[in-house]
Amino acid sequence: MTLTLARRFCVVLPSSKMKLVCCLVLCGLLVALATPAKAQNRPVSNRPGRFLSLPNPQKCANRPKQFFFRGHNYFFTGHVPQYANRKVDWLDGRNLCREYCMDLVSLETQEENNMIFRLIQQNDVPYIWTSGRLCDFKGCENRPDLEPKNIYGWFWSANREKLAPTSQVPPSFGYNPWSSTGHKKQKQPDNAEFDINGTTESCLAVLNNVYNDGIAWHDVACYHEKPVVCEDSDELLNYVRSTNPALRL
Ligand SMILES: *[C@@H]1O[C@H](CO)[C@@H](O)[C@H](O)[C@H]1NC(C)=O
Repeated sequence: MTLTLARRFCVVLPSSKMKLVCCLVLCGLLVALATPAKAQNRPVSNRPGRFLSLPNPQKCANRPKQFFFRGHNYFFTGHVPQYANRKVDWLDGRNLCREYCMDLVSLETQEENNMIFRLIQQNDVPYIWTSGRLCDFKGCENRPDLEPKNIYGWFWSANREKLAPTSQVPPSFGYNPWSSTGHKKQKQPDNAEFDINGTTESCLAVLNNVYNDGIAWHDVACYHEKPVVCEDSDELLNYVRSTNPALRL
């Protein structure tokens, strides 16, 4: 996917540090190019090209650490005073997190999913973004393993791991976290907004009972604005660690 593409361009560089920087920059470029599924239809699309942000070492060192699970710190923007009322689209959400050496939360296990669902329930949060993304951009073509996309095409962009097929109960889960209903009264992902006005639902949000369906996963068009949960990114922390050895992260 994006990383593979970027790596192909970056392998020619001599040092591994240069390779990593090149890779981070190129990945950002590729993802930014790829992200607007229907950019020309966006309601407020007067922004120039958009890029993935690089981490800010000072922000990484002082990142909010609200809770901790299996080696990673997390925070919810609703509980950080400066972001308390902030809602962002999916890419801005990634970038908000990435400046802190974090990324949008990835829900790989039921235990982690339960933890995030509990946060949503206890604080009556209407919805959040996760790092889940449909591989429907440049670099995702000619991949029979991703077809059909609505079942096999989803991945966690924070670590580029594939999600389980959406039609199946993921390993370590006791049930399927994708909602069994939505706008079209069909199980998720349903790409419903595409039918309404041609905007693809390429991003994964957790919605709190929006369709009278409890707390559950939904595919949502990436331009919608939501609060986010950020989770430590090993990749970004290691990068900042290697370039700032004196920094305590
Ligand atoms: C598509 O429909 C949604 C839901 O009604 C709306 O919020 C969004 O602005 C629409 N987008 C376009 C491009 O018309």
